Amino acid sequence: MDVPRPTTLTLRARAKANLFLRILGTRPDGYHNLATVFQTLDLADTLEFRPAPATDDLQLLSTDPSLPLGPDNLIHKAWRLLLDTCREHIPAPGIICRIDKQIPMQAGLGGGSADAAATLVALNRLWQLDLDSTDLRTLAFTLGSDVPFPLLGATAFGTGRGEQLVSLPPIPQTYLLMAIPPVGVSTKAAFGWWDAAHPTTVELPDPAELRELWETVIHSGDWAQYVHNDFESVICDRVPQIAAVRDALCNRGIPTVMTGSGSTILGICTSYEHAATLAQGWQPVAGERLVITSTLNSSGIQ
Ligand code: C5P
Repeated sequence: MDVPRPTTLTLRARAKANLFLRILGTRPDGYHNLATVFQTLDLADTLEFRPAPATDDLQLLSTDPSLPLGPDNLIHKAWRLLLDTCREHIPAPGIICRIDKQIPMQAGLGGGSADAAATLVALNRLWQLDLDSTDLRTLAFTLGSDVPFPLLGATAFGTGRGEQLVSLPPIPQTYLLMAIPPVGVSTKAAFGWWDAAHPTTVELPDPAELRELWETVIHSGDWAQYVHNDFESVICDRVPQIAAVRDALCNRGIPTVMTGSGSTILGICTSYEHAATLAQGWQPVAGERLVITSTLNSSGIQ
């Protein structure tokens, strides 16, 4: 007997932070090798997927009018990729996707990547495609370097372009005060700035040693002292608003780090009350907004 196809599916697509990011040189394909620590955050978009038999298209609806809804949106690209890959198993490709957008865009929080990963998971279920986790990871990587991580989630060490993932020991729930400047940074531009600032090959660290270091510092509980992002100095040198926000958070005496290629700066707090107290007394220095979130030891898609 055929199992009936589910009619609607609602998933949460969670933001990520990079607690550590080193750029380990350029590759023959033009990308850069990385060593990074990804962390799933509580902050999430919510996506509702519903079959739309009257159409063969994807219709995207968003609570945030500034979200581009056209074919360049990664949700659209994920839908198109599944259609191109599994067309003969998809009798009715029409889908309505409603997104409640909570993850700030162009902020280094991986919202577009998480939405794309959620789309792959949702359509795999709605269309009963039977793609396994390896298939999904491969498709995710086609969509972007950061798309595989939300499928794994929690705390993970990433190498290659960021897609070669190994889980790290879980970090106890930690509250983060995120300061989000009103400027975004394009990832491509950020890598270009890094290249311009580092024209010669310097001795690069061994990613396996960095992974061992992170396992050790998570076990010892003092990982917050090891947060680092290679992009931070090159981006702060070029974008004064981001530098001002970074300095303001640093001046509160807490460990801080930029996530991804910016522009969000994370302040690592000791408790929710600590984060709330800092947020209450905050005077904006560059039009930044503040969001309190916490680390989450779970998949990025739920
Ligand atoms: O993979 P994704 O589409 O997110 O990458 C966006 C851009 O960032 C790429 O076009 C590339 O210029 C740069 N990039 C890189 N090395 C990586 C990831 C991204 O150079 N590991």
